[in-house]
Amino acid sequence: MATVPVITIDGPGGSGKGTIAHRVADCLGWHCLDSGALYRIMAVAGLARGLGLDDEAGLIQLANELQIRFEPDHIWVDGDDLVEAIRGEVAGAGASQVGSLPSLRVALLQRQRDFAVAPGLVADGRDMGTVVFLDAPLKVYLTASAEERARRRYNQLINKGQGVSLPSLLEDICARDDRDMNRAVAPLRPAADAVLIDSTQMNIDEVVKAVLDLAAQRGLTV
Ligand code: C5P
Repeated sequence: MATVPVITIDGPGGSGKGTIAHRVADCLGWHCLDSGALYRIMAVAGLARGLGLDDEAGLIQLANELQIRFEPDHIWVDGDDLVEAIRGEVAGAGASQVGSLPSLRVALLQRQRDFAVAPGLVADGRDMGTVVFLDAPLKVYLTASAEERARRRYNQLINKGQGVSLPSLLEDICARDDRDMNRAVAPLRPAADAVLIDSTQMNIDEVVKAVLDLAAQRGLTV
């Protein structure tokens, strides 16, 4: 059976992984997995059902039962559209908390691997190249300085009309980095065979081109 090619894009929050993954997937006509959305869904759906974010058994049961369907502008979770609810800072912090539960990560493995469907998949997250898609033929580790990532997030929120403070965003980003990089299970780190891209001085088009060039060099594109 021919294996489905997977490009993994891992990196810290705010590095632009999601945007880059979608753009690369669109250019190649491949599927896209936003694995962070799954962890965000677990946090939001768990809280809505009265579960504690440290209730590993309860969250595993929820992970096994939830009906989740991704559409371009909607994320249906047991009939509710959570596309907006999972984007907030509470969902992000909650995702980071549930993401540190080892058995919950195992419970979500198959759901993530099921996204690898022909003609190919671009998967973004923290452990796509180190755990979920170990055999991916192209692994990218996308990063940017914490200050630049805070500035990007600040601009996004200001454009949405939300009042925020840059120093507090920077503090949140550093705290999330610390949790994601130093947790015992699936810590955020580049896979040994990942290509590092530092996007601090690059725009989105430049990063997309860099990933597509790498894909072409590895014979993944026609
Ligand atoms: O990428 P995003 O900001 O949506 O991820 C939210 C949180 O979910 C991350 O800070 C991380 O703690 C967790 N996560 C994870 N593993 C992934 C993707 C996200 O632990 N593959």
